[in-house]
Amino acid sequence: MPYAKIIGSGGYLPPRVVSNDELAADLATRQIVTSDTWITERTGIRQRHLADPGVVTSQLATEAARRALADAGVDASELDLIIVATSTPDFIFPSTACLVQAQLGNKGAAAFDVQAVCSGFVYALTTAEAFIRAERATTALVIGAEVFSSILDWNDRGTCVLFGDGAGAVVLRASEEPGILGARLNADGSQMKILYAAGNVAHGEVTGDPFLRMDGQAVFKLAVTSLAASAQGVCESAGIRLEDIDWLVPHQANVRIINFLGRKLGLPEDKVVITVDRHANTSAASVPLALDAARRDGRVKPGDLVLMQGVGGGFTWGSVLARM
Ligand code: UT7
Repeated sequence: MPYAKIIGSGGYLPPRVVSNDELAADLATRQIVTSDTWITERTGIRQRHLADPGVVTSQLATEAARRALADAGVDASELDLIIVATSTPDFIFPSTACLVQAQLGNKGAAAFDVQAVCSGFVYALTTAEAFIRAERATTALVIGAEVFSSILDWNDRGTCVLFGDGAGAVVLRASEEPGILGARLNADGSQMKILYAAGNVAHGEVTGDPFLRMDGQAVFKLAVTSLAASAQGVCESAGIRLEDIDWLVPHQANVRIINFLGRKLGLPEDKVVITVDRHANTSAASVPLALDAARRDGRVKPGDLVLMQGVGGGFTWGSVLARM
């Protein structure tokens, strides 16, 4: 049974950078009070990239995909599977994956989206790995991409300061050498109410509330406990000790969640990749963007053991353990 090995990665962030001070000044024009101090102390976020009006998820995803393909030395025509994890698709249908496929010039690969919000990338990666292990695909593109700014209520300071836009991608290939060693996905739909965007389009109209709503403290607590248990579980089933992990690449929502998690797992800070300060929370894009940043600056090297973790709306969470 072949392994699924990550052979390339790429990331793309829209060029418009908005600092906490700039965001606070903008919110102040609508009498909404926030500050760089509050955002930095409570979240570790210093800035976010925001897509300009009219820019859609498939554009960010395609750019990240091109960079991942170039990094892997793979032509788009070689792909036989394309999965996009997103909660902000361009359309109701076709899937964002089909739109990316067309923009890349690939024909014939299976292409579909995965919806698991901020856990979307680890869900999509696990799905692609299962295709490769089962020999139903040999070369897969897995993307996490979001224009999350499009579902934010810019009058809700409790959420709008937390998120950003972006895309990250990896190329996976069937390999005899160890690649992904284990994965664990979970969900608890009964926790839907702590993080959701419960709008819909029906009969030509938006129904319900199309904006993201969150009980931040409930998400915080559940994120730490579920991710710690997931990390322990995936390592146990793969026969790996937590101390053997070279890099933890967690979902980038809040540096306090990441620090709690690192401490709970006994992982020193210098083994944890953090990009939330620069990217904010990019939902499904956060893990592949962080992985790509750490590969490109030379921290994550071939042979390293990497634990990627996602957590978010659903409630969903999951872990993927990969030998790079
Ligand atoms: O991708 C997964 C999704 N999300 C997450 O993982 C987020 C998880 N949760 C969190 O990161 C944190 O709970 C938050 C960053 C969202 C909030 O931090 P907190 O320390 O839990 O703050 P809080 O919700 O308890 O709010 C404390 C105070 C409140 O004021 P009062 O009631 O104490 O007077 C809020 O109204 O901070 C106020 N507040 C703000 N103040 C300034 C909330 N948002 C802001 C803001 N600026 N942007």
